[in-house]
Amino acid sequence: MRVIFVVATIVAAAVGVTFLHGIAVADGSGDPAAVKSEDGRYFDKDGGPTYHVGSDGTVDWYAYSGYRRYHSECHVCHGPDGMGSSYAPALKDSLKSLSYGEFLAVVAGGRRNVSTSQENVMPAFGDNTNVTCHLDDIYIYLRARANDAIGRVRPARHEEKPDAYTKAEASCMQ
Ligand code: HEC
Repeated sequence: MRVIFVVATIVAAAVGVTFLHGIAVADGSGDPAAVKSEDGRYFDKDGGPTYHVGSDGTVDWYAYSGYRRYHSECHVCHGPDGMGSSYAPALKDSLKSLSYGEFLAVVAGGRRNVSTSQENVMPAFGDNTNVTCHLDDIYIYLRARANDAIGRVRPARHEEKPDAYTKAEASCMQ
């Protein structure tokens, strides 16, 4: 009996591990789990920018700032909280397959869809410092939305604005 119990426990553990692997989250840039942080910025295992949400729901500064930037620059077309509209796609879903590099390229260069009868245009933001100086913020916020780490509406708690962020922003906006 005892042997059967031990075997059953091992099998259960193995199934558990397989199951966890099966549901491991990944988006267009891979696994979004933060493995490193530096001055309030979080990075995934490939060194790409990512979000961090603490156990009490505190979100990192970049994701919080991204929420605000998204809602001042993008939501008119892409809908509140990255949910999409009849005019432009839900970026919450786009980032499940778009990589960081692809995201940057579309936002900087824009895109025009002429394949449908309705012509939908994604403007190029490459010259707009309100966007280019906050692109990582917007990306990080949307990456969190794509992985359901941040829900709809403004995150209630956020980390403090890092000094490094204030400096980088000031020199970028000049
Ligand atoms: C004037 C409306 C408008 C605004 C403002 C706008 N977009 Fe778009 N965007 C679009 C449209 C329309 C498309 C789809 C274009 C196409 O079908 O090729 C799009 C596509 C995209 C895509 C590609 C999505 C995909 O699934 O391939 C990304 C990424 C994107 N926008 C990011 C942004 C970000 C970030 C902002 C804010 C800085 C923004 N957009 C602001 C209209 C807009």
